Amino acid sequence: MRDANPQTIYLKDYTVPEYLIHSVGLNFALDDENTRVSSRLTLSRNPASQSKDTTLTLSGENMKLIRINLDDGTNPSGADLHLPEGLWAGQPRVNDLSKDQYLQTQDALIINQVPQQQRFVLTIENSINPKANTALEGLYLSSGMLCTQCEAEGFRKITYFLDRPDVMTLFTTTLVGDKDRYPVLLSNGNKVAQGELPDNRHWVTWEDPFNKPCYLFALVAGQLECVEDRFTTQSGRDIDLQIFVEKHDVDKCDHAMQSLKNAMLWDEQVYGREYDLDLYMIVAVSHFNMGAMENKGLNVFNTKFVLARPDTATDSDYEHIEGVIGHEYFHNWTGNRITCRDWFQLSLKEGFTVFRDQEFTGDRTSKAVKRIEDVNMLRTRQFAEDAGPLAHPIRPDAYIEINNFYTLTVYEKGAEVVRMIHTLVGADGFRKGSDLYFERHDGQAVTCDDFVNAMEAANNIDLSQFRRWYAQAGTPVLTVQQHYDPSAQTLTLTLSQNCPPTPGQALKEPLHIPVTVGLLNKDGSVAPCKLQGCGETSPKAPAVGCCPKTDEVILQLTESEQAFTFENLTEPPVVSILRGFSAPVKLVMERSLDELAFLLSYDSDTFNRWEAGQQLAGQIISGLIADWQNGRDMHVSPIMVAAIQQVLEQPWDDLSYFSLLLSLPSETYLAEQMQVVDVEAIHAAREFVLLTLAEQLEAQFQALYRNNHRDESGQFDSGAIGRRRIKNTCLSYLSKLENKPIYQLSQQQFNQAKNMTDQMAALTVIVNNPHPAKQQCLDSFYHQWQAEALVIDKWFALQASSSMPETFATVQALMQHPAFDLKNPNRVRSLIGAFSQSNPLHFHAANGRGYRFLADQIIALNTLNPQIASRMVGALTSWRRFDEGRQALIKTQLERIMTTEAISKDVYEVASKSLAVEAAGRSPLQNQ
Ligand code: BES
Ligand code: ZN
Repeated sequence: MRDANPQTIYLKDYTVPEYLIHSVGLNFALDDENTRVSSRLTLSRNPASQSKDTTLTLSGENMKLIRINLDDGTNPSGADLHLPEGLWAGQPRVNDLSKDQYLQTQDALIINQVPQQQRFVLTIENSINPKANTALEGLYLSSGMLCTQCEAEGFRKITYFLDRPDVMTLFTTTLVGDKDRYPVLLSNGNKVAQGELPDNRHWVTWEDPFNKPCYLFALVAGQLECVEDRFTTQSGRDIDLQIFVEKHDVDKCDHAMQSLKNAMLWDEQVYGREYDLDLYMIVAVSHFNMGAMENKGLNVFNTKFVLARPDTATDSDYEHIEGVIGHEYFHNWTGNRITCRDWFQLSLKEGFTVFRDQEFTGDRTSKAVKRIEDVNMLRTRQFAEDAGPLAHPIRPDAYIEINNFYTLTVYEKGAEVVRMIHTLVGADGFRKGSDLYFERHDGQAVTCDDFVNAMEAANNIDLSQFRRWYAQAGTPVLTVQQHYDPSAQTLTLTLSQNCPPTPGQALKEPLHIPVTVGLLNKDGSVAPCKLQGCGETSPKAPAVGCCPKTDEVILQLTESEQAFTFENLTEPPVVSILRGFSAPVKLVMERSLDELAFLLSYDSDTFNRWEAGQQLAGQIISGLIADWQNGRDMHVSPIMVAAIQQVLEQPWDDLSYFSLLLSLPSETYLAEQMQVVDVEAIHAAREFVLLTLAEQLEAQFQALYRNNHRDESGQFDSGAIGRRRIKNTCLSYLSKLENKPIYQLSQQQFNQAKNMTDQMAALTVIVNNPHPAKQQCLDSFYHQWQAEALVIDKWFALQASSSMPETFATVQALMQHPAFDLKNPNRVRSLIGAFSQSNPLHFHAANGRGYRFLADQIIALNTLNPQIASRMVGALTSWRRFDEGRQALIKTQLERIMTTEAISKDVYEVASKSLAVEAAGRSPLQNQ
């Protein structure tokens, strides 16, 4: 818990470690409440360190120290504490340190004097209590199984160590435990020995042949079943694949296993990367702070991202499972073989790996749909982070608690920055760059700069200005003006960029922004895209050239303002700009509704085509918001109805993409666009558009529903997924009609569904309407699925996100439900998280009860699980975006949170920064 003044860690203070660890032998005598750890470290002074200090400081928290033994080789009878049989005889040994030779503090062990000239062996014995560990960092108990989570700084809760990612070493781990209580004993690498011990105990020794930082260490022990398969690598090596789950989940592992094989093949094909151990293990645990963790050879996953059966998991669950399995697998090269020098470089592994998993999912499903979903998330949630009091660059320069920096910025914007490099150098250039990166840095702990250096060197380009993306926070605003000159037959686009101030960064330098552009003729055909001066190589992008294709160009914006002229245009073209969302910016460009409707019909870029529809709907909804606020009647422009009708009447191959074209921008995205967020007006206006479309296009939605409704149990081909998605989109529109036939339709789908996608879609519609059978359906769903924790999570989340008036009372009642558990992060996320992050209407109720409720839960979680508590504060950070009344109410709750007794560093950092006076101003967009 917090010391009086939590310390800020700065990137600029980085120094190399004073000591190196050559190897570590770990011994665990496992017990739920009293696990004894013995750690044998072979250390020496790091010749690269400038420090004159001859003490050795190891990190460690929350543990009982039993013994320290320092063997400098001078005493031949130095204790060997390391044989399993010889564990902890309890007698003092030769070389044991006495109390005056070391200092134990709250978070460290300082040994007064260690050898400076030669290697020495330090053996430490300590004990920990996994059962009491509700923070779920270090070694903890989850539904009867022992498991670890060490990233970022959890290893220091297991034993004293140099807990920093640039200290890499070889791990040998012996696990000892009761045979019935812990039949399965797992750790990183290869199993090299095992045996039996008296008292019904057994032991297993694991050896990891790869150097790794301690944050990649893992152990798992418990009663687990194993599902097995095999993968043959491109070089012909056979890899054993094992997924460990609780017994009743064995029938839900097929998809995860297939996903793993898909990921292994993809990384060989796209990056030329092969797996390096003979064994790959995944363990699914039900208590997990995050989604999953890439521990070397032994990934630990939240059950949510492993378990799936057609009747328990939705199509989107299936997709996420494949994405997360891919993500953790891809870390084996981008994260494990090459890791981060320090935690400020987190985006080096996370941004790059997210980019890799996005591409993987795009290749496996629909590139267009995946891109849209990623951009949607970036623009609704990361842009909000970038515009708020916690804005930070993808490579932050200071933190109090590193766990608070596993953010949308580091992950999603980080992935966008990698994607921009990909856009600038092309797929082949990117592969050359990644090959060079792996070749140069295999086995090292490196920086974001090392990655960019490799990309530069392999492609012979200059990314010096581009590097500002790593250091500058905030979302740049890209403004576009166009001028057509009929006599010269040219079109000039004037692009300007401006990035609003963020905390600690008042002034911003211009960024290097790739802007992909295409031009359309008035009949919808592709217009030539010939840039003036093209062919003369530009010094900024010699390897790229400016016109790789004739139908599209990548403009390289490097100045605050720059003009680009296109030639040979006999008529003024329609401009399609920022195609594929080529940079994470806010685009400002005047567009008429007709122009947007035109692009929605004809743009050949799938992203921009969808985007045109979103902008069209956005403009219309913002007009209605103003009407609603001023008490005027609302009317939906016929352009909107015609545009959707036009989409409905076309034939579509990709039904998921089709569904996205029919979907309106979310309430959260609409809120992002408003000067002062008005959750009620947004909800009312958006619902009004949905209702109008449902009324005017009812026949089309009905027909589309019927044509795509099949009685399918569990097919996961893109055809079946697309049919379900479009059908359920129609159901959602039709439900706005709130009439009897629709109630019957949704109830019928709910009762007959053979897969979770259809069952959930029907229940969502039922719960978000005054459906007469609502409670009956909710009860029957609960009874049907009470043994499936992940399905019950959905049941909680669905009710917490409902827009119906009774929602707050429901949420309060659900807090008392026997299945609710504040110690289970998945449950917390599905009830408290869903209410505060996916229910703007009710969370932001004008009387402030939503805020008070959340603050109560944060205060309770602060002691139980600081990481989850601090995540929940996120819903309060954007308080300055609301009206004065709500601002005051949220601020009061943030201040109340700040007075929490024994406030954790995690919660303290987010709450205090949210309240700080020097907060981000409104972005220029919002100020207009
Ligand atoms: N390394 C992280 C998991 C992690 C982060 C553990 C922070 C502990 C603290 C892992 O690779 C990861 O990024 N997981 C994501 C899912 C992924 C698909 C983006 C997660 O857990 O949310
Ligand atoms: Zn990751």
